[in-house]
Amino acid sequence: MPLAVFVPGGHRTGPLPARCLGKSVVRGYPHHQVRPVISAFMEQRHLGRTGLRVSRIGLGTLTWGRDTDEHDAADLLRTFWEAGGNLVDTADVYGDGEAEYLLGQLMDGLVPRRDLVISTKAGSVADPDRRVDGSRGHLLSALDASLARLGTDHVDVWHLHSYDPATPLEETLQALDIAVASGRARYAGVAGFCGWQLARAATWQLAAPGSRARLASTQMEYSLLQRGVEREVLPAALDTGVGLLPSSPLGRGVLTGKYRGDAVPPDSRRASGHMAAFVEPYLDDTASRIVDAVTTAADGLAVTALQVALAWVRDRPGVTAPVVGARNAQQLTAALSVEALTLPDEICRALDDVSAPVHRYPDHDWSTL
Ligand SMILES: NC(=O)c1ccc[n+]([C@@H]2O[C@H](COP(=O)([O-])OP(=O)(O)OC[C@H]3O[C@@H](n4cnc5c(N)ncnc54)[C@H](OP(=O)(O)O)[C@@H]3O)[C@@H](O)[C@H]2O)c1
Repeated sequence: MPLAVFVPGGHRTGPLPARCLGKSVVRGYPHHQVRPVISAFMEQRHLGRTGLRVSRIGLGTLTWGRDTDEHDAADLLRTFWEAGGNLVDTADVYGDGEAEYLLGQLMDGLVPRRDLVISTKAGSVADPDRRVDGSRGHLLSALDASLARLGTDHVDVWHLHSYDPATPLEETLQALDIAVASGRARYAGVAGFCGWQLARAATWQLAAPGSRARLASTQMEYSLLQRGVEREVLPAALDTGVGLLPSSPLGRGVLTGKYRGDAVPPDSRRASGHMAAFVEPYLDDTASRIVDAVTTAADGLAVTALQVALAWVRDRPGVTAPVVGARNAQQLTAALSVEALTLPDEICRALDDVSAPVHRYPDHDWSTL
């Protein structure tokens, strides 16, 4: 595989001469940390209205430390980085902290920390009596615990995992300001906020420039099987300059077409005890019509259903980077091959039609009233 060498005035590809493997030529990289160039090196986008640039596909770690062991995690991270990916999404609760720990173990040994944009989250709690804790005290302690597990002194984007109705929003948001002001987080975001919650939080943060950290991103489920964010969240995000990071962009795996005709691949989430309920909501007739349309489009374009579904969500207005999940490096490689694909407009329109969410008064169309 050709390797990239960064030289003044540009970068060159081609077989890397052995003499170039020294640190002096490949600046700062030990030779095992030189990124190869694949045919389509991943494009980057700004995260919302900030200066931070992230790869237009992110890597999720929801299953790390539980279903994904250290070997698969290492393969996934290396595959992602070699393809030009930098945005890695995790959370303090994934695998009860194991996902962050695993990522921390892999950074630097396998992939340079400086090449990654680490996004983590806080605010979800395992406590059965309190699912969400947006108090300033809990959030800042959770961030310190995340940094310890990750083995780094800062995360690049720190997200509130959920809206906490029991804590004043100003208190919750102040934790973001403190995290950014102290350098423990470079940028701040939210996740799981509905439209008015996002608009209120983003507007509050914009009201005191210089002392409050503007929201860079919001993470919400978004795919051809789940377009609810188009009602209120996306308009709010576009208006306030917050970038959307769609989670579960492959419809939790269903948009790959693997479950068509009631199939249950033995190694899939549907066949697994603890993840079956996660895919179940997208196995009804409505979803199956959408998956059929995606498969038809894929056949017509001679690509895969996964590529069609991922290219569609990646290129929706307001989207910065879908965060994909993958069980192993082969799955990830298949997902990352979407880099070479842009869907023709007529295919996008057909997919929009077949999956369109119902917009009702008063969020959108008033014309029929
Ligand atoms: N903020 C939040 O509250 C929140 C919530 C959920 C997720 N997230 C984030 O979003 C990330 C992605 O979520 P997700 O895992 O549900 O996303 P997804 O990308 O929609 O689904 C991933 C699943 O799709 C299947 N898949 C992927 N590539 C495939 C391929 N090439 N061939 C066949 N199947 C393939 C695999 O299922 P099988 O394992 O069945 O093969 C994989 O586990 C998470 O890791 C997490 O970082 C955030």
